[in-house]
Amino acid sequence: MLKIENLSAGYGDMQVLFDINLNVEEGEVVSLVGSNGAGKTTLLRIISGFLPVKAGTISYLNQDLLKYKPQRRADLGISHIPQGRGILGTLTVKENLIMGAYPKKARKTVNTEIENAYARFPKLGERQNQMAGSLSGGEQQMLAIARALMIHPKLLMLDEPSLGLAPIVVENMFEIIAGISKQEKVSILIVEQNLMQALSVADRAYVLETGHLVMQGSARELMENKDIQKAYLGL
Ligand SMILES: Nc1ncnc2c1ncn2[C@@H]1O[C@H](COP(=O)(O)OP(=O)(O)OP(=O)(O)O)[C@@H](O)[C@H]1O
Ligand SMILES: [Mg+2]
Repeated sequence: MLKIENLSAGYGDMQVLFDINLNVEEGEVVSLVGSNGAGKTTLLRIISGFLPVKAGTISYLNQDLLKYKPQRRADLGISHIPQGRGILGTLTVKENLIMGAYPKKARKTVNTEIENAYARFPKLGERQNQMAGSLSGGEQQMLAIARALMIHPKLLMLDEPSLGLAPIVVENMFEIIAGISKQEKVSILIVEQNLMQALSVADRAYVLETGHLVMQGSARELMENKDIQKAYLGL
C-alpha cells in the first residue's frame, strides 16, 4: 500500500537519506530500526508531507503521494504519531482526542470515536477531563495512539513509541500496537531504536544506518542474524 522508491532527501545541502527503497503491504507491521541520527524521523516526516524529497517516488494506494499536501495525506488515511508523542499538555485528554478528528470526514463521528477510544483505553476515559500533560508517559503514549486512531487510519506511523518509557510500560505498549494491528484494518510503520521490541511486533523490518538501508528481511530473519546480534545486542 506504501511504496518508496529510490528516495533521497535532506536539509538544505546536507543529504540525510540515500536511495531508500521501502514498502509496506496491506495489514503489515513494518519496523524501521536504526540508531540516533540515522534519518528515521526524517523519512516519516517525508511520508507525512512535512519535508520535500530531492529524488525518488512514493506511491500510496496506487497514487503519487508526493503531489499532496500534509492535510490531504491525512484525509487519505495517513496518521503520524511524532517522536515525543505530540500531544498538547495544556489541553485535556478529551480535547486532545477531539483534535485528532480534524479531517472533515472524522468530525461528524467524533463523539462515537471518543467512546471507542475510552473503550479501548479505559484509563483515558477515567482521566478525560485531566490535563494531558499530567498523564504518565505511558498514558500519554496511549493518548497519542488513541488520537491517531480517531481518523481510522489506513497507515499508522509511530516514531519511537518506546522513548522514555520504563521497560514494563514499553512491553505493554507493543502489546497494544500488536492488538491494533489484529483488530483494525491498518498497516503500521514503526520507527524504533529498541531493536528487539521493534522486531517482536513486526512482520518485516529494515535497518537504517546513516541514511542508508543496510539490511531488510522478516523479523525472524533479522532476529537470527549474527551481524544484527553483534551490532545491536552486543552478543
Ligand atoms: N530540521 C533539521 N535541520 C537540519 N538537519 C536536521 C533537521 N532535522 C534532522 N536533521 C539531521 O538529519 C539527520 C537525521 O535526523 P533524524 O531526526 O531523521 O534521525 P533519527 O534517526 O530520527 O534519530 P533519533 O533516533 O535520534 O530520533 C541528523 O543528522 C540530524 O542532525
Ligand atoms: Mg527520530
